[in-house]
Amino acid sequence: MCNINIMKKILVENLKQKKTETTPIWLMRQAGRYMQAYHKVKEKFPSFLDMCKNEQAMTEITLQPIKEYDFDAAIIFSDILLLLDALQIKVEFIKNIGPVVQAPKKENDIKSIKKELDYRKLNPCYKAIKNLKKEIKDKALLGFSAAPWTLATYYIEGKITKDLSKIKRFGYENKKLMEFIIKRFAKNIEEHLVNQIKAGVDAVQIFDTHAYQMDYLMHSKYSLEAIRNIAIKIKKKHPEIPIILYTKSNILNNYKEIESYIDCISLNSNVDLNLAKALVSKKFCIQGNLDPISLVVGGNQLKNEVNRILSVMKNNSYIFNLGHGVLPQTPNKNVHDLVNYVRDFKS
Ligand code: CP3
Repeated sequence: MCNINIMKKILVENLKQKKTETTPIWLMRQAGRYMQAYHKVKEKFPSFLDMCKNEQAMTEITLQPIKEYDFDAAIIFSDILLLLDALQIKVEFIKNIGPVVQAPKKENDIKSIKKELDYRKLNPCYKAIKNLKKEIKDKALLGFSAAPWTLATYYIEGKITKDLSKIKRFGYENKKLMEFIIKRFAKNIEEHLVNQIKAGVDAVQIFDTHAYQMDYLMHSKYSLEAIRNIAIKIKKKHPEIPIILYTKSNILNNYKEIESYIDCISLNSNVDLNLAKALVSKKFCIQGNLDPISLVVGGNQLKNEVNRILSVMKNNSYIFNLGHGVLPQTPNKNVHDLVNYVRDFKS
């Protein structure tokens, strides 16, 4: 009989700074619109958010890409914006437009943001994690949340502008209110991540997707400092749980600062992996970097990129992933090819 406790999860091994024989692979947004099976479940629900509050659907969708592609990690199917919904801030996902959030109109809207999360909306997520723990024993299960800044961009902007001009202007004109929002969201995010850890995830990823085009001071305060506070609190309670940080900011500039509380940085495709490797200590885990468009294109473009990335990272702890989420137009065959290229790679 196989003892589940000694089953090695290669993704967790790399997060704990151990290089494994094959490179673990999972993809951001691995469950989603490029999969037929996802659409079949989604059409049963009146809205995307309703689906994100249904324990059975969340469990099923999380497993879809594992069954189809045999990735080394499952990420709980949910969305970063569910947290706003759990704070009674209205969120809608509108077809061909994307998420639209009820932005605050006056100071009092901000001051009256609920302190407590509505657990009726979040409990299905924790229950789905418990179900998934029983289903997948040899692969890592990941929890996630947005970083405070990225959540705040949706809240303040309502509908995200290309240059984030709305939240940046708000931040310069209303420093106290901006701090208030970041601190409040940080508390809720920490709570949500700890709940996912208690439910059984092996690691968590913090998405700071919108931490780009920020002024240096704004980035230090609202992005880095807020993430540091969350990570340190989580580490105090659960030192064994690795934390991955995904950001589109120039994160390598801050590597020395973050390495004491972040276990892995997930890099966008615009980062030079050679440079990243030279900067981080040898055992520090790096994730990502493949351009999602290379996955859409497939063929030699994909194969050459996989070989390039794996050659650069061959002596480092590394988790294969994209620089951003899987795109809806990604052909199913290319994803199968990708997993094979990664598993067959010989340095
Ligand atoms: O990675 C996974 O498979 C887990 C599920 C997951 C979703 N969203 C499902 C989803 C995760 C980890 C996210 C994170 C998320 N959500 C981020 C951070 C990562 C990133 O991509 O930058 C952000 C910024 C969001 C906000 C969000 N949710 C947007 C902008 C959109 C619409 C457009 C888009 O990019 O898909 C969503 C909706 C959403 N979240 C879908 C899925 C599968 C598509 C819903 C649909 O139309 O079917």
